[in-house]
Amino acid sequence: MTTDLYCVMGHPVAHSRSPWIHARFAELTGQQLHYDKREIPLDHFDRSVHDFVREGGLGCNITVPFKFEAAKLATQTSARGLLAQACNVLSFKDGQILADNTDGIGLVDDIERNAGLSLKGLHLLLIGAGGAAAGVLGPLLQAGPAHISVANRTLHKATELVARHLPLAAQQSTTLEAHTLHGFDASFDVIINATATSLSGAAVPVAARALKPGALAYDMMYGPGAQGFMDWARAHGALPRDGLGMLVEQAAEAFLIWRGVRPPSNQVLAELRQVIQG
Ligand code: ATR
Repeated sequence: MTTDLYCVMGHPVAHSRSPWIHARFAELTGQQLHYDKREIPLDHFDRSVHDFVREGGLGCNITVPFKFEAAKLATQTSARGLLAQACNVLSFKDGQILADNTDGIGLVDDIERNAGLSLKGLHLLLIGAGGAAAGVLGPLLQAGPAHISVANRTLHKATELVARHLPLAAQQSTTLEAHTLHGFDASFDVIINATATSLSGAAVPVAARALKPGALAYDMMYGPGAQGFMDWARAHGALPRDGLGMLVEQAAEAFLIWRGVRPPSNQVLAELRQVIQG
């Protein structure tokens, strides 16, 4: 019997926790599969995907910097992948490449289920307008907040991202605005850092007055990179949360797409925190 093959493709990918997470999901749901990681040369993405399909691969997760290329390579893309224009999950079936984006639902699940905060009716600030922000704005709108401001260093990218999401915002009766990083006066119930600042060790990109007292301050990064943002949030009376739960929840949604069964993601998140903290 051959083993069903999956992988994560990225650059860099050496520190990815995805193989551990999917191996644990497989154990806990009694599924037989093999999941590894592949560091892909920057100009070899399409070829690497086709090679993996030829080897018998059934699906892969896509991480930085290939999510835009994954969306372009697909022969079919889900509605949420089309809105994001970036995809983190590929499935290979009958010669087709199916693309989806589970990052946003992973973020919403982590906030609503694991942190226990319903986003309905809240005021949100999404910082950043790159691939990471694009992946989550649609699902954040679908959670029904009263308002989302998207703030970015380069205003036109925030404006474009917002413009693409205005029909969904209108459907949800959510007000949606684009700003520069210092171009807003309001404070928010939830702020989400989707910039590359934690990755590069740069300072938190907005002023602390963006935080309402007790706000949830979420960094989509996890590990040492997110620590500066977490410390900043705590020092200003906010509740910090890193992106480890989002990582596990987006993986659980990918596992559901591939295997038709949703793994116990909250258990795996608790275990992974133990592993990481030693
Ligand atoms: P990703 O796919 O991880 O989102 P990206 O598409 O390169 O990566 O986007 C990076 C995001 O981080 C952008 O919103 C970027 O702002 P610009 O659009 O102005 O480039 C933001 N970013 C990166 N470094 C930053 C910094 N030092 N301060 C503020 N924002 C920063």
